[in-house]
Amino acid sequence: MESEVRDAINAHLTLEFEAAHKYHAMSIWLELHDLPGFASWMKSQSDAELGHARRFIDHLLERDETPVIPATGQPRAEFDSPVQMMEIALESERKVTASINQLYELAFKHGDRAAQMMLQWFINEQMEEENVARTLIGRLRLAGDGGVGLLMIDQELAGGKVPGAMDEPGG
Ligand code: FEO
Repeated sequence: MESEVRDAINAHLTLEFEAAHKYHAMSIWLELHDLPGFASWMKSQSDAELGHARRFIDHLLERDETPVIPATGQPRAEFDSPVQMMEIALESERKVTASINQLYELAFKHGDRAAQMMLQWFINEQMEEENVARTLIGRLRLAGDGGVGLLMIDQELAGGKVPGAMDEPGG
């Protein structure tokens, strides 16, 4: 593996671990605001991000390269509302998507087909994750970010799905 590709994958690992921490903090905030279904769904998103990090780590290990676990900052723990929280999550996903697209271009430049195949999974995953986040933001806006509508969304998320979106992305 070209060192440029390896270093870029290791740099990208930061975004995946940061996403896991951000979503864990969001899950705690939701739990503290009496939305246990939403909190549980958000925790599963955090777990999925750790799964993403592990996929990159496994790819490096399989190619006899050394993964580096990054230092990450303290995630934001306070939000004005669930919809604002999800807008922050969507913005975070867009940054991850941009980074994965850059990784793919780098792997393509170096003719690294194994990395390209691994990254293809992530390109699909990011499309799904952004779609889920957008759908949830739309539903939260419809609910007016409070009252009965929000409780209904919380109930729906307790089942692990965002209604109207594609299947929840797997880790
Ligand atoms: Fe692993 Fe949600 O990006």
